Amino acid sequence: MSEPIILAIESSCDDTSAAVLHGKKVLSNVVANQDVHEQYGGVVPELASREHQKNIVPVVDAALKKANISKNQLSAIAFTEGPGLMGSLLVGGSFAKSLSMALGIPLISVDHMKGHILAHFIEEEGKQAPEFPFLCLTVSGGHTQIVLVKAPLKMQVVGQTIDDAAGEAFDKAAKILNLGYPGGPVIDRLAKDGDPNRFEFASPKVDGFDFSFSGIKTSFLYQLQAEMKKDEHFIAENLNDICASYQQHLVNYLLTPLSKAIDEFGVGDIALAGGVSANSELRQRFEKLASQKGIRSHIPKFEFCTDNAAMICIAAHFKFLENELADLSVTPKARLHF
Ligand code: KG4
Ligand code: ZN
Repeated sequence: MSEPIILAIESSCDDTSAAVLHGKKVLSNVVANQDVHEQYGGVVPELASREHQKNIVPVVDAALKKANISKNQLSAIAFTEGPGLMGSLLVGGSFAKSLSMALGIPLISVDHMKGHILAHFIEEEGKQAPEFPFLCLTVSGGHTQIVLVKAPLKMQVVGQTIDDAAGEAFDKAAKILNLGYPGGPVIDRLAKDGDPNRFEFASPKVDGFDFSFSGIKTSFLYQLQAEMKKDEHFIAENLNDICASYQQHLVNYLLTPLSKAIDEFGVGDIALAGGVSANSELRQRFEKLASQKGIRSHIPKFEFCTDNAAMICIAAHFKFLENELADLSVTPKARLHF
C-alpha cells in the first residue's frame, strides 16, 4: 500500500495550524500566529477562538495548496483532541469532523502532548529518529513532563510538574521584568550577554522525577522586590545578569530529574520537545548531558518544536497505520491524560 496522505489541524492554544504529510514527509506546515494577545500579557481564550474561526479556512487552504494536494487525494483528517483551551479546540475539531464527513474519509484525534513527542519521527534530511525506548522531556507553555516512550503509541509519564509549566516560569518572570509576552524568547536573548552565576534562586524539592515551578517564580519575585526597595534601578541595571542567572537556574532544575531518570531507565536516547526546547541554553546543556552519559540526544527542527500541525499529522500517521480512528462522537478535551 502506498503511504497515507493526511491533513492535520492544530488549534489547542493561540496558533492556528494545518499540515499535510505524505507518510512521514512534510509536504506543508502552515502556522498563523495570533498577535492580538500580546497587549494582554497572555492568551485570552475568547479572543483565541475567534481568531481560529477567522484563520482556519485560509490556513487549511494554504496548507493544501503548498502541498500541491487536492482534498480528494487525502487518506484521513486529523485534529488535536486536547489538552488545550476548550473554545480553541472546538474550532479545529468541528472543522476536521465536517471535512471528514464531507469527504467520507477517516477522522483521527490526537493528543497534543504526544504530538510534541512524535515530532521526532518527522522525516528530516540527515536526522536520525530516536530509538525505543527513549525519554522525552516535553517543555511547553502549558506542560512539563518526562515521558518514557516505548513505541509510537505506547508512552508512560514518569515525571511532571505539580503546578506551573516551565514555559510559564519563563513567561511569568518576563512579565515581572516587563519584557512583554511571551517572554521566554526575550529572556533567552538577554541572557546571552549576562552572567549566569550572579544570582541564585530557590530549588523546590519534589518526589521522584517531578517538578514544581511556582516556588521558583515566587522566590524570583521576592528577591527582585527586595532589591528594588534598596535601588529602584536594580532591574534596569542588572537585566542581562538576572535573565542569565534565572535561565541557568531553570535549565539546571529541568535537567536534574531527567539525569536521574536516564540512570533509572537505562535509555540510550533522550529527546526534547515543546516550545521551551527553542531555548538556546536548554538545547546546549541537553546535548552536553547526553554526551556526558554516553547516549544520543534529539532536538527537532525549531518549526516542529513550537505548536504546529505537522506534529499532529505524524502522530495521526502512526494511529492510521494501527487503524486507531475516531468516530464522529469524539469531543475536544481541555484536559487529557495518558
Ligand atoms: O509548545 P508551545 O509553543 O505552546 C504550548 O503548547 O504551550 O510553547 C510556548 C512556550 C512559551 O511559554 C514560550 O515563552 C516558550 O515556549 N518559549 C521559550 C523560548 N521560545 C519559546 N522559552 C524559553 N526560551 C525560548 N527561546
Ligand atoms: Zn504545545
